[in-house]
Amino acid sequence: MSKFDRRNFIKTTSLTAAFASSYVFSSTDSRKNEQMYMGDFSAPKLNKIKAAFLGVGYRGKGHLKLFASLPGTEVVGISDLYEENILKSNKILENMNISTDSIKTFWGDDKKWKKMLSEVMPDIVFISTDWNSHGEMAVETMKNGAHAFVEVPLAMTIKELWDIIDTSEKYKKHCMMMENVNYGREELMFLNLIRNGQLGDLLHGEAAYIHDLRFQMNEETRGTGSWRTLEYEKRRGNLYPTHGLGPVSQYMNLLRSEDTFKTLVSFSSPAMGRKKFGKENFPSNHKWNNLNYQNGDINTSIIKTYLGRTIMVQWDETSPRPYTRLNLIQGTKGILAGGPTRAAFDKGFENYTKDSKEWVKGEGIDRLYEKYDHPLYKRLNNQTKNTGHGGMDGIMMYRIVECLKNGLPLDQNVYEGCAWSSLIELSSNSVNNDGEPQSFPDFTRGDWVNTNTFDIIS
Ligand SMILES: NC(=O)c1ccc[n+]([C@@H]2O[C@H](COP(=O)([O-])OP(=O)(O)OC[C@H]3O[C@@H](n4cnc5c(N)ncnc54)[C@H](O)[C@@H]3O)[C@@H](O)[C@H]2O)c1
Repeated sequence: MSKFDRRNFIKTTSLTAAFASSYVFSSTDSRKNEQMYMGDFSAPKLNKIKAAFLGVGYRGKGHLKLFASLPGTEVVGISDLYEENILKSNKILENMNISTDSIKTFWGDDKKWKKMLSEVMPDIVFISTDWNSHGEMAVETMKNGAHAFVEVPLAMTIKELWDIIDTSEKYKKHCMMMENVNYGREELMFLNLIRNGQLGDLLHGEAAYIHDLRFQMNEETRGTGSWRTLEYEKRRGNLYPTHGLGPVSQYMNLLRSEDTFKTLVSFSSPAMGRKKFGKENFPSNHKWNNLNYQNGDINTSIIKTYLGRTIMVQWDETSPRPYTRLNLIQGTKGILAGGPTRAAFDKGFENYTKDSKEWVKGEGIDRLYEKYDHPLYKRLNNQTKNTGHGGMDGIMMYRIVECLKNGLPLDQNVYEGCAWSSLIELSSNSVNNDGEPQSFPDFTRGDWVNTNTFDIIS
């Protein structure tokens, strides 16, 4: 199909899909009069952005540093459970020659953050606490008149995700889940290749978070492992789906007029690795050895989209193996895959390959990057390359600030954060029911068909 025919085909099929979706997938009441669809929402420009930070542990401190390094920003409040983290955050700012005199700090109990929201009246709040507090904190942030920027996942339950949607639509506030992986060089380059038509029509994606995090169990009382280890007992299914799924969702233009999430099935392997690690590394009466690790070590879900495309999503934070997000996308003209970056095209690539029977790699991949690096990466790489996760954290923060200052829609809307995070409960329900198919809630209530594509392509 020509590019034009392809777009027409997709548009016609999508419109049929949208019609069906508006009644098949809605699982809550219709939008109330006071609510507004937020798919392409842009807030009034902010000349100076006043931010409060809620949770400044491992991740929150990184956001604080990146935000404060950009012009036209001001830190007005910091909240954490522990004074030590507040002091370390202040030190970060002082080392950047930023005065901390007027920053209000809140610590010491788990409700002080509410005081911060009402007392410092920030424009935006960065929420980087443990998974179970995100939902409530995002909702309260918006009710207090601020935009919410929330670490992954956005919330753990579909009920909380609907609360976030309803609040964002009522108070007209952004709620962006900060999926940094969508700003990775590889992911942006793949997006650029896809939008340039180099893969043809998309058929299938593979996304994952496979990261051996057993070492976090050494954080016994504070820090990530102290709360994350408990999650392997609480739930079954995929606990951390968004790093892999976010980019594949935007490659396929899911929730952005072309296609959307439809159904999911999910299975988990036996749960063995955490118990084994606990036994081998902690005394027999240690709290880690009294947990019932019921969540299978490896979870595999398959999503079917409305156009019938498939996405395999895997999660494994326990098994001994190297890190990967898979990041694979198959089209009718070729395939792209991550870890390490590979590509194959039906017609080959320049002098490097002659058809799709061999991967473009090595110098061929260098040439592919040279030719198809995303314009956003090219524009920002010089200033962000030394920031976290290979530069993706810096690009994400730059874009958040740039969009807020210029009154532009954000690169990830509230519906994307909710759909990507909904895998947690959907996969759990499917695993608990021997792989029974689960329907995705349509958080857009049928309006995904009117939402513009991820638009920083030029
Ligand atoms: N996007 C990424 O690449 C990435 C990387 C690491 C972590 N994360 C995410 O970031 C979030 C935080 O993870 P982390 O590793 O920084 O954990 P962490 O335990 O190091 O930090 C969480 C902080 O939140 C604070 N906190 C918890 N409840 C609070 C409350 N009621 N009031 C005030 N402060 C509170 C804790 O004191 C702690 O300092 C998680 O959602 C995690 O999944 C994302």
